[in-house]
Amino acid sequence: MNKIRSGIIGVGKYLPGNILTNADLEKMVDTTDEWIVTRTGIKERRIASDGEAASDMAAKAARAALENARLKPKDIDLIIVATITPDMFFPSTACQLQYKLGIENIPAFDISVACSGFVYGLTIADQFIKTGCYKHALVVAAEKLSAVTDWTDRSTCILFGDGAGAAILGPVREGGILGAHLGADGSKGDLLQLPAGGSRLPASIKTVENRLHTIKMEGNVLFKHAVKIMAEAALAVTEPLGLKGDDIDLIIPHQANIRILHALAKRMGVDPEKKLYLNIEKYGNMSAASSAVALAEAIQEGRIKKGDTILMDAFGGGLTWGALVIKW
Ligand code: ACO
Repeated sequence: MNKIRSGIIGVGKYLPGNILTNADLEKMVDTTDEWIVTRTGIKERRIASDGEAASDMAAKAARAALENARLKPKDIDLIIVATITPDMFFPSTACQLQYKLGIENIPAFDISVACSGFVYGLTIADQFIKTGCYKHALVVAAEKLSAVTDWTDRSTCILFGDGAGAAILGPVREGGILGAHLGADGSKGDLLQLPAGGSRLPASIKTVENRLHTIKMEGNVLFKHAVKIMAEAALAVTEPLGLKGDDIDLIIPHQANIRILHALAKRMGVDPEKKLYLNIEKYGNMSAASSAVALAEAIQEGRIKKGDTILMDAFGGGLTWGALVIKW
């Protein structure tokens, strides 16, 4: 039987033009450029404008991916959007994206997996393409974290940024997605959460006064989990494929903290200068959109060549994690 394999046939990104630098943040909270750069690797991040929502950014990234894949919106038969900052609870951001792209009737849904959302989305789409169920899946990660950031909390507001990245998956003759590993640990959900606005704590004057509609994070504890779990996820996907650190040409990780990523490279025994793709300096942590934008930029910058073996590795709130190996 002819086995179908799926691969990435187009990528796109969108970053809002408004730049918030560490110098700007020095004027907003008690912090310094030096602290932010040495502790996180971030120099600046993008902030979406008022009225610019996740689906607006998603549509721009999606259109760029369609152009890159030389496809028309009508060629897409599945839409998955990874976001923790949807335009609204419902309708889903994926449905709004479908409408914005002028596509009718095809399935469209959101997934809420925090920073691991893009890797989860690619893995879900891969299943549908492999079975022959769909031919061209659009996977978009779009986040407007600035809308849920507590701009008075120096331990979180320096980290996050807005943006969107997109990929189109389709059947490929060579290469493609070789393997994936996904995981979650709900027992540690309280380490990173947005407490109010859902059915547990519906919006009220009190929840707004207590800033419970913004991200709460125990960064220090998460840091240790991130280093361990990202390394374990990388092993879980590479080992069954018989791949070692040396066999990986480029790692496209979720960009939460440069120190986490250097620790990951060390655990994998790879040279971070050569094998780690980093753009955290420019964009900060854009949750699911981070790895999507990183993949798009790595391709556009020529860091990924035909025949390369790429490892995507993400970790985030939930806790959730996911790793994916793609042969280019
Ligand atoms: N400027 C100056 N000082 C600061 C700042 C700041 N912006 N923020 C915190 N500090 C201070 C703290 O108050 C603390 O001071 P103290 O020692 O007097 O109490 C000191 O710096 C050290 O604080 P830590 O929290 O221990 O700093 P750490 O080195 O852990 O860095 C950070 C914090 C950057 C948040 C780091 O822990 C991190 O990156 N964690 C992982 C985040 C992550 O992976 N999240 C999951 C993905 S995100 C998602 O899913 C949306």
